[in-house]
Amino acid sequence: MNLPNIKEARIRTDKKVEIKRDEYQLSPSMKVLGVGKNYCIYTYGCQMNVHDSENISAIMEEMGYSKKEDMDEADVIILNTCAIRENAHNKVHGMLGRIKHLKETKEDIITVFCGCMAQEEGIANELKEKFPWVDIVMGTHNFHKLPLYLEKTLTTKQQDIEVFSIEGDVIEGIPVKRDSKYKAWINIMYGCDKFCTYCIVPYTRGKQRSRLPEDILKEVKDLVKEGYQEVTLLGQNVNAYGKDLNLHYGMANLLEDVAKTNIPRIRFVTSHPWDFTDDMIDIIAKYDNIMPYIHLPLQSGSTKILQKMGRKYTKEEYRELFYKIKNKIKNVSITTDIIVGFPGESKEDFQETLDLVDELKYDLAYTFIYSKREGTPASNFKDETTEEEKKERLAELNKKINQYALENNQKYLNKIVDVLIEGKSEKEGRLMGYTDTMKLVNVKASEKYIGKIVKVKITEVKTWSLDGEVVDGK
Ligand code: 5AD
Ligand code: SF4
Repeated sequence: MNLPNIKEARIRTDKKVEIKRDEYQLSPSMKVLGVGKNYCIYTYGCQMNVHDSENISAIMEEMGYSKKEDMDEADVIILNTCAIRENAHNKVHGMLGRIKHLKETKEDIITVFCGCMAQEEGIANELKEKFPWVDIVMGTHNFHKLPLYLEKTLTTKQQDIEVFSIEGDVIEGIPVKRDSKYKAWINIMYGCDKFCTYCIVPYTRGKQRSRLPEDILKEVKDLVKEGYQEVTLLGQNVNAYGKDLNLHYGMANLLEDVAKTNIPRIRFVTSHPWDFTDDMIDIIAKYDNIMPYIHLPLQSGSTKILQKMGRKYTKEEYRELFYKIKNKIKNVSITTDIIVGFPGESKEDFQETLDLVDELKYDLAYTFIYSKREGTPASNFKDETTEEEKKERLAELNKKINQYALENNQKYLNKIVDVLIEGKSEKEGRLMGYTDTMKLVNVKASEKYIGKIVKVKITEVKTWSLDGEVVDGK
């Protein structure tokens, strides 16, 4: 048993990160462990988790397990959790209740708890004390060892908690079962060293570790051969890519090399304004297959609050970067993240955020009420704003965000845009896909267009999506 430790998770040393290529191994007995059995996986949180679940699914299937959508049919239930805000916790606690109920009639079910929540000291202890029936608890650094843990649990029938707070290495060679045949997530780096004072990620995901350029490029080239249309390069802070490798090869170089593979669409998330270089902007502007869409988290429009958040840029510096991107990248859309109610945020600070939103008119923003995360510096900051006031601020902000989202979308009316058609829409009789600028479009089109980038004429615009019809299928 190995429990996480938040003090250890905070440590960053000069220890060289190792690229481990044969950590993931399946013995002959592991390869048949799941034959005739089913698993289901529930994923919470960001794209990084979604992609980890694609890895975990592949591992399960290499052991012979088959995927089911419903926990009632599963022999193994996997919860891949998120720790970013308290409400993510609440959802997972609800799921644990459902699984416990199911276990009353089907006691052989194995429950696996993984992801960022597992890395939290308090949660791991809670699972040990209050949920001893959760069979396997594993962290973000060692999920590739799942076959080992499953084999052990099947014989000992005892709870196994294996969560490491070490800084982490880069594990290559983990299999992947991608959810889509057309667009793929690619990790380019793991962890984060920014330590924004509100954020739990540097503790749950560890030290920043970049993958080697050649490993990333090989993955992209293989996807091109398989006919993939889009890749999204993933990292908590992708602009800092390569800084830990000392290769004098950064995000701008990587973007250019990925662009040269001729994959039709390249996206990347998430950017920290601090590391966004002019070189990066120039490369994005130069290559048509790097999408004109930038997610640029602001967090607050008040320099005082930004400093308390440890964001390391001022309002003016952010604004300057924003306009540089707008002016250099043709037709770019910019979205953001904003936290309201950070400890010490006064009415005036919040007004600065509103004023900046009025000026920058984002295409879209993800807005959150500050959520206290145990072990982060901000959890000790004095917070005098009431919950009610925070909710009012969020509502006021959202009103503006929605207004600008709609205004930005209105520019698309009657325009013809490229959309990668991904599959059926939630809207009856329509397909769905995204523009290069990341606008969701519900398209009237034949299913033969699924997986293709097609010309779509926009016929109606809404706050969150566009409607359109295919004008010229390729
Ligand atoms: N409370 C509220 N929002 C948070 N985020 C990260 N940590 C917290 C927190 N403790 C938001 C930030 C980040 C996004 C992924 O989640 O806006 O950019
Ligand atoms: Fe969290 Fe800041 Fe790192 Fe983003 S850059 S993951 S907000 S610490």
